[in-house]
Amino acid sequence: MCGIVGVISKDKIIKKNVLLDLLKRLEYRGYDSAGIGFMSLGKLRVIKQKGSIDKLRSIVKNDCLGVTCIAHTRWATHGKPNLHNAHPFLSESKTWAIVHNGIIENYLDLKKELGNIKFSSSTDSEVIAQLLEKDSDKKDINKLIRVCNKLKGSFALLCMSVTNPNSLFIAKRKSPIYVMKGKDGIIVASDTICFEGFGKSYYSLEDDEFCEVGLEKIEFYNKKGKKIKKEEQKLESLNYSSSKNGFEHFMLKEIMEEGLVVSNIIKKYSSEPFLSFNECVVRKIKKVVLIGCGSAYHAGLIGARFFEKNTLIDARCYIASEFRYLNNKIDKDTLYIFISQSGETADTLASLELVKNSGGLCVGVTNVMHSTLAKMVDIVLDVCAGVEVAVASTKAYIAQVVVLYMLSKHIEGILKSKSINFLKDVEELRLTLQKNEINNVDKVASLISKKQSVIFIGRDLDYYSSLEASLKLKEVSYISSFACPSGELKHGYLAQVDNTTCVVVIATKIDLLDKNLNNASEVDARDGKIIICSPFKIEDKYTQIKVENITSDLICCLVARKLQYLAYQTSIIKGINPDKPRNLAKSVTVE
Ligand code: M6R
Repeated sequence: MCGIVGVISKDKIIKKNVLLDLLKRLEYRGYDSAGIGFMSLGKLRVIKQKGSIDKLRSIVKNDCLGVTCIAHTRWATHGKPNLHNAHPFLSESKTWAIVHNGIIENYLDLKKELGNIKFSSSTDSEVIAQLLEKDSDKKDINKLIRVCNKLKGSFALLCMSVTNPNSLFIAKRKSPIYVMKGKDGIIVASDTICFEGFGKSYYSLEDDEFCEVGLEKIEFYNKKGKKIKKEEQKLESLNYSSSKNGFEHFMLKEIMEEGLVVSNIIKKYSSEPFLSFNECVVRKIKKVVLIGCGSAYHAGLIGARFFEKNTLIDARCYIASEFRYLNNKIDKDTLYIFISQSGETADTLASLELVKNSGGLCVGVTNVMHSTLAKMVDIVLDVCAGVEVAVASTKAYIAQVVVLYMLSKHIEGILKSKSINFLKDVEELRLTLQKNEINNVDKVASLISKKQSVIFIGRDLDYYSSLEASLKLKEVSYISSFACPSGELKHGYLAQVDNTTCVVVIATKIDLLDKNLNNASEVDARDGKIIICSPFKIEDKYTQIKVENITSDLICCLVARKLQYLAYQTSIIKGINPDKPRNLAKSVTVE
């Protein structure tokens, strides 16, 4: 969370649009406030604004940026999202300017140590600027290393010093940061997405590594202050585009790309099947544990069910922020699957570290192949969704479910010593998704937007789809919503139902249809509005979201798509920007 970017330009002046366009690529990491820092007439200056980067753009003059600049887009952790707490922070005598992504856990102790310094914000980050100013070392890079050795927590740091106006000083622990020496100068950023169009390779800092970079030099150090050598990495094209391709929002564009994503998955996995999961590896697996947060957790729940049904191996899915504190025994014969669109989610990475340190076999299912997660796991599976910009995960969720389905089927094939053509199921899904039918959802959205609460219910996989649908709706429409297994409704949840409530019943299995319809009647009898999301013809008295029928369990992806669109439409009716829901960020890099 929070995005940071720095630029050193070969031109005399950095155009505001260059810097802010780069920062805009990181807006998915937070949009509570934005700010820039630069040298002007020998002094460090900052310009900040509460709210989005576009608001900041309107107050930055074109000609006021120096040769070296830093910029920040914030997701608030410590301190309200206001102007005072916006980055960059200047030290008391304005000798240092810093931007930070992460959390400094011991900032209160460090503030006390600093004594009488006047702080301008209530953030944890500002203490870093003050510590840099107070440090007595002669070299700026040594100051940074000494200060960072005192910090507890996580940081990607980008700093400017008044004594070295043409350099940027960089530090990393747990939060990502990358450096590119491009043809027009230097770019430093939280995500390589900022490098597209500027060069072909970049440096990736590891934890407790530091860097001083200028146009003529790029030097890396370890935490003891010793110079280290680093190799450049090839920049894989992410096909980043800031364009919505004619769609009003990224969320809609990304929902509409789902067919294409499944087609990319088919291409990738028909030419490169799950080679690392050979007979020898698979036959050792006694249990599968899946771990993720938010939508990735929901994909994991569905994945666990696929493993149980298809391979008969015990499978369980955990929320990463819970798993890391459970002190569960890590077994060598368990397959640990970490699911994360961004590959940077702090709790997922912490769980991964824990399993890895205990020698468990770690698989990553991710959309970002240069992410920390991708680098840490033993086997990485690309979900091929392409850059996902909207905060609400849509196409990446579908892609995760599909890849988990294929892996479970691949393992089933090995265990049963028979060839299973699971690509046929995925192809059927692709064809259906590419028909792009999103019928009568608009009417339902209008109905839902007037309700105070929405309950999603379902059984088995449909219950997991309910969890995801409920998350999506609350995320982008702010309507209070939750999910409940259909059979649990009368064990408490029904007390919530009255004529202000809508209950969406997800029913994709014919053998469970009657049971689900009984539950619908119980809601109907209490004046709740019923919506049935199903491929089967239901009596006319209920409003229905018709889902196409396909033969495999991947029908849950068709349900997900319809309900993603429902959430999208509801947010539009309520006048909310679905790409940037309040209080959220796309990449959750703090725990
Ligand atoms: O990048 P990750 O997949 O690890 O992110 C996990 C969650 O933060 C994410 O899925 C979140 O729940 C989405 N905004 C849901 O739409």
